[in-house]
Amino acid sequence: MAAITPPLWLLAELTYQCPLHCVFCYNPVDYAANRQELSTEQWMDVMQQARKLGAAQLGFSGGEPLQRKDLEALIAEGHRLGYYTNLITSGVGLTEERLVHMKEAGLDHIQLSFQDSTREMNDFLSSTKTFDLKMRVAKMIKRLDYPMVLNVVLHRHNLDHVGRIIEMAAEMQVEFLELANTQYYGWGLLNRAQLLPTREQLQRAEETVNAYRQQFGHAMRILFVVPDYFEDRPKACMNGWGSVFLGIAPDGTALPCHAARTLPGIEFPNVTEQSLHDIWHHSDAFSRYRGDDWMAEPCRSCPEKHKDFGGCRCQAYALTGDATNADPVCGKSPHHDVVQKIVQQAQRPRVRADIKQELVYRSDANSRALRASVDISS
Ligand code: FES
Repeated sequence: MAAITPPLWLLAELTYQCPLHCVFCYNPVDYAANRQELSTEQWMDVMQQARKLGAAQLGFSGGEPLQRKDLEALIAEGHRLGYYTNLITSGVGLTEERLVHMKEAGLDHIQLSFQDSTREMNDFLSSTKTFDLKMRVAKMIKRLDYPMVLNVVLHRHNLDHVGRIIEMAAEMQVEFLELANTQYYGWGLLNRAQLLPTREQLQRAEETVNAYRQQFGHAMRILFVVPDYFEDRPKACMNGWGSVFLGIAPDGTALPCHAARTLPGIEFPNVTEQSLHDIWHHSDAFSRYRGDDWMAEPCRSCPEKHKDFGGCRCQAYALTGDATNADPVCGKSPHHDVVQKIVQQAQRPRVRADIKQELVYRSDANSRALRASVDISS
């Protein structure tokens, strides 16, 4: 039996509502089928229970968490409970007045997302006109003396802009820049063929990042993680299933990772029906891939299994049809060729305009249509 550690990181996905339509969003593609959201009191109860279980960091995300009018009250409660609170936002809906209230409520940290350094690409990828607004929000965050933390999701369409993105961040006096290559879950997985970069693009981007790192030193820390499809060892997803991460979906479903609901045959518990203690300690969903008892070969006898935990269960399922398989990103996986083929396909030269046309935006209409097409074919 694996030892059960506290859920240090509570992620409250307050809502799936979002004014943006990002093509790489990790929210479930069928999100529109479930519009239920916990009430203010229910979220506060979740935060209290998780704190008792040992949670120390509290993230507010979504969708766009600013869509919730009670965000300030939730931040205040998180602060009162002693959490380190973090707002993960596109900035849309953030006014100076709200930000002042959040600061007074005790918000510790804001992570602002941009889609690109150019207005054209930023607005294209989110299917909105939000570039100028985000610029204003960045200045507001700085004015209120928050550490400036910028997140830009990278892929085929903006990797070549990485130098300009870093310069934009420097102009904004960003202290921490997260250049996060797209994770292929949710809408990102749906658009994978259109988003996956070429190996050459990645190498060039990495070289550029390294050159800027030397230039800026400690003034701006730049995180650049190569997408795992291009690696031959898997990422330690969620630092291990049921180990430190506890996600709560808008409707109160408790999740060991963002994409867990894509896995078949697991009933995920809901905070409206069970205590968080029971969920974390006793539910089948959180115990299922905890520790290493569930592992098959090659993970079972792998000397690195306590480092990478066999990779990502959701990726193993998405790419091999079995969540107990080693993540096929791993070079030791008998399914590694699946990933290699996907990467090879991305190397083919393609007309950028064609790829752009094939992108599926995250929207309620697309979500409903995709759900309907799955229902018909299943
Ligand atoms: Fe589910 Fe990695 S996203 S285990």
